[in-house]
Amino acid sequence: MLLHGLFYFIKMNQNKPVSIQQKFSLFNDQWSPKIIAESNDQLIKLAKIEGEFVWHNHPHEDEMFFIIKGKLLLKFRDKEIELKEGELYVVPKGVDHFPVAEKECWVMLIEPKGTRHTGETDFERSVDEKDQKWI
Ligand code: NI
Repeated sequence: MLLHGLFYFIKMNQNKPVSIQQKFSLFNDQWSPKIIAESNDQLIKLAKIEGEFVWHNHPHEDEMFFIIKGKLLLKFRDKEIELKEGELYVVPKGVDHFPVAEKECWVMLIEPKGTRHTGETDFERSVDEKDQKWI
């Protein structure tokens, strides 16, 4: 209950500027997106990722990766794209992708509420949205 109140308080504080770097300093767990803002039913999230994810796709939503720090390799069935710091890429809905970060990479994601970050694939790295926290 106390935690719930805290998250509500943080959410209500949205009218203040959000420092991306400061938000990244608040967590160290990987593959566990944190919510930092909400806009038009879209959630703006930060995640630290390292290693390989899993092949998956999102049947109903495009997925935007914006690289804040490090590099991210996005493997597709027919090509690979390497994203560097400051670059973004949108994976179209329904397209299989497999993210790989050789070293820890910091990414910002913008997703409609209700998106599962492993798509329809159940995977040990899946974190249900209800378990994703505001920071
Ligand atoms: Ni994805």
